[in-house]
Amino acid sequence: MLPALPCYLNGEYTLLPDAKISVMDRGFIFGDGIYEVVPVYGRCLFRFEQHMARLERSLAELRIPNPHTRAQWRQIAERLVAEHARQTDADPEKMEQMVYIQVSRGVALRDHAMLPGLTPTVFVMTNVMKLPAPALREQGVACVTADEFRWQKAHIKSTSLLGAVMARDISAQVGASETLLFREGFLSEGASSNVWIVQDGKVLGPPRDHLVLEGIRYGLLEEICNMHDIGFELRPIARAEVLAADEVLLSSATKEILPVTRIDDQPVGQGQPGPVYAQLYAGYQAAKLQARLRRQY
Ligand SMILES: Cc1ncc(COP(=O)(O)O)c(C=O)c1O
Repeated sequence: MLPALPCYLNGEYTLLPDAKISVMDRGFIFGDGIYEVVPVYGRCLFRFEQHMARLERSLAELRIPNPHTRAQWRQIAERLVAEHARQTDADPEKMEQMVYIQVSRGVALRDHAMLPGLTPTVFVMTNVMKLPAPALREQGVACVTADEFRWQKAHIKSTSLLGAVMARDISAQVGASETLLFREGFLSEGASSNVWIVQDGKVLGPPRDHLVLEGIRYGLLEEICNMHDIGFELRPIARAEVLAADEVLLSSATKEILPVTRIDDQPVGQGQPGPVYAQLYAGYQAAKLQARLRRQY
């Protein structure tokens, strides 16, 4: 039985166990839809405008009409966040929540063509966000590498996630935290996170192109680097550079920023979280606090 978390489905506020969609929903049949995961700190939807911009880009790529304005999306998300906070005993100012938004093309008899004129299915839910345990931040996590086998439209935050599920399984099978993917010898990303390396004090990440999902943390890490005079560059990164890096980092909404201390059973750098990670993590926490203080969404 699903927990009675508050959710929104096609114009109605309801609870997760009661939310039902058609078996002919193209999200179910084809994975023909897009999604977003927005972190929420103390009721503040963190980097919401950037999440909305990516949602708009993903929808446009799939020619799915955007069913809501940004103001309407915000209203739905904030109502769910408040409702969820009310359900729990936690202090809402201290709660860490996430909002999941999904839009599929809608309901129709099965046909691969991008049928126009359908009413998109809109689903939004909220839950607590489980951030990585302090021990993982202090010790770092282990990752494994694999050759990229996903499609070449990784920039779309699509609900067609079989490639991500299969990629993640490679690390899950050996008890590692993430699978680092390489396309023709160059780093793309993790199964569900972006990957960064630190080389001579500089943060390097793969270019913003169709081979990676541009995480909302791309912009955030760039800002933190600029603020702290840490070099930041996006360029193709060879596998050998990853394995020889001083530090390797993962980023995502739910991982925030996490140090990788072992890759394929070999230590990364000194085998412990490095100084650039520590600076970026502190910068990240400061950005969260500032957003909450200013209620700057
Ligand atoms: C494939 C992939 N890359 C990168 C990311 C990181 O994106 P964000 O920082 O917006 O969470 C995710 C997040 O789920 C992802 O699934």
